[in-house]
Amino acid sequence: MKHIFIKGTNPSKPTFLLLHGTGGNEHDLLPIAGMIDDEASILSVRGNVSENGMPRFFKRLAEGVFDEEDLVFRTKELKEFIDQASTDYDFNPNHVIAIGYSNGANIAGSLLFHYEDALKGAMLLHPMVPIRNLDLPEMKNISVFIGAGKNDPICLPQETEELASLLQGAGATVETHWENNGHSLTRTEIEKAAEWYEKNF
Ligand code: MLT
Repeated sequence: MKHIFIKGTNPSKPTFLLLHGTGGNEHDLLPIAGMIDDEASILSVRGNVSENGMPRFFKRLAEGVFDEEDLVFRTKELKEFIDQASTDYDFNPNHVIAIGYSNGANIAGSLLFHYEDALKGAMLLHPMVPIRNLDLPEMKNISVFIGAGKNDPICLPQETEELASLLQGAGATVETHWENNGHSLTRTEIEKAAEWYEKNF
C-alpha cells in the first residue's frame, strides 16, 4: 500500500497508524499525529480503493452503505500490510495506535472488530459502525477515543453511541468527546484526543 513511515525519536513510544478520510491521502493527518505525540513513529497509509479518483479504504454502495465483502477484504489487506511494515521498519506490531478520520476511522473500527491484536488503542474521529452482527474479539486491553459531532450528518450521534457500546461490550475502555459541530475535524477535538492519549499511554 502507498504509505509514509517516519521513525519516532523515542523507541518506547507507539507507532501511530494514520488513516485519512475519503478523498484524502497519507499526508493529511501528519500534523495531527505531531500534535498528539511528536516522539511516536508514524505509519501513514493511503487507501487502496479509488472512488472517482478519491482514495478510500474500502468500497461503499452509497453514502453510509458499505460494501461489506470489500470491507472485510480490505481490513485483512491492511492488517497484513501493518504486520509486513512492522518487519520492514522494525516497529513493535503490538504497540500500534490508530488515528483515523471518517472513512479512515471506519477501517480502524473494522480492524478492532476483526482482529484481537491489530491495535493497542485507537482515536476514531467521526466514526460509524463499520459492520454489524459480528462476534467481536476480546478488547479488554484496548482503549478507544471517539471524537464526534452532535450535528454530524454522516456519523449520526445515535450511531456514535451504538459504536461506543459495541466496543465497551467487547471489553474496551471508551471515551467519547462531543463537539457542537458537524463532520469536520476541529482543533479542540484533537486537543481532547491528546489529553486522552496522555492519560492512557
Ligand atoms: C464512509 O464511507 O466511510 C463514511 O461515509 C465516511 C466517509 O464519507 O468517508
